[in-house]
Amino acid sequence: MDFEKMGFPRAKLAETPTPFEEAPRFSKAVGGPKIFLKRDDATGLALGGNKARKLELLMGEALKAGADTVITCGGPQSNHARMTAAAARKLGLHPVLVLDGDDPGTRQGNLLIDHLLGAEIIFSGERSSGELLDEVRGRVAARGRKPYVIPLGGSSPLGALAYIECVEEIVSQCRQFGIAPKALYVAAGSVGTLAGLIMGKVVFEAGFSVKGIAVSPGADAKAERTVGLMEDAISLLKSRAPLSGAPAGLSRLFDLSREDLRGLVSVDESQVGEGYAIPTEAGLEAIRLLARSEGVLTDPVYTGKALAGLIKDARSGMYSEDDSLIFVHTGGVPADFAFTNVLVRN
Ligand SMILES: Cc1ncc(COP(=O)(O)O)c(C=O)c1O
Repeated sequence: MDFEKMGFPRAKLAETPTPFEEAPRFSKAVGGPKIFLKRDDATGLALGGNKARKLELLMGEALKAGADTVITCGGPQSNHARMTAAAARKLGLHPVLVLDGDDPGTRQGNLLIDHLLGAEIIFSGERSSGELLDEVRGRVAARGRKPYVIPLGGSSPLGALAYIECVEEIVSQCRQFGIAPKALYVAAGSVGTLAGLIMGKVVFEAGFSVKGIAVSPGADAKAERTVGLMEDAISLLKSRAPLSGAPAGLSRLFDLSREDLRGLVSVDESQVGEGYAIPTEAGLEAIRLLARSEGVLTDPVYTGKALAGLIKDARSGMYSEDDSLIFVHTGGVPADFAFTNVLVRN
């Protein structure tokens, strides 16, 4: 998609199109349908992941606004924070990361990479990192800098738009493989990725359903948020006329009502376990299975749980051996190094 022609400045950060590959040994190991991996863990940008696509549009906007500092927030093992810091460095901006809780003292996983990137790290203590964003913006501005704030997970309407393009790639890659997948599975956190994939499905007339696997509690709230993000993203698209360079299918998106959009959203809460970033047995099994059948790594916070959702459905018999499924691998592997205790036990 030519976002720039559509009025959305883009900073080139991601290595796209990302690979699309069959996982025959993994499919056999779960005893079900043919499974294909969309390798958005291979976007590049300080070890890759789904945030690279969103950051292309968000950083494009930051540069257009003349920012010299980028502020974002997340958990101490936030992949989004790590990749935002890398994007800022690549574009010559100063990264400020507001992270939940108290300083753990050690620098491991994503936090180690944040340190290597020289990000300014502020721990939020008792308050949530998101609550502190405005205050930190004020402090940074008071130092004479021009901050641009990126919300949690990069899941603003603008960030979500980036995932429409991922579906454009998938549809073309499915054509090359001669497959018509039944469903696409993806981790659902702040849901910008899910919202973008659903919009992409509409724009590019993909035949698969899009299934979000929640990595934190609140399926209904996540579904509502997905609808809201899509509505706001569609308004944003409409506001940036002229739509020269836009895919013809965009008008299909503009025709959808809120109810139509709600009908396209599916969020499965079965893999959350005890909560966000708390590993589950099913997630750990999924990590082992994919690693040992295909040599592909996933993580206990996002992609392991999402893959466990796919495995559960595949094993339930709801698909035949001739069906195809897509797993969008959104990255997250740096967090493995902060979870060695649980991972080595398995
Ligand atoms: C590795 C990984 N996968 C999936 C997600 C979920 O994406 P979203 O927040 O857009 O739902 C994230 C978000 O932080 C992530 O880091």
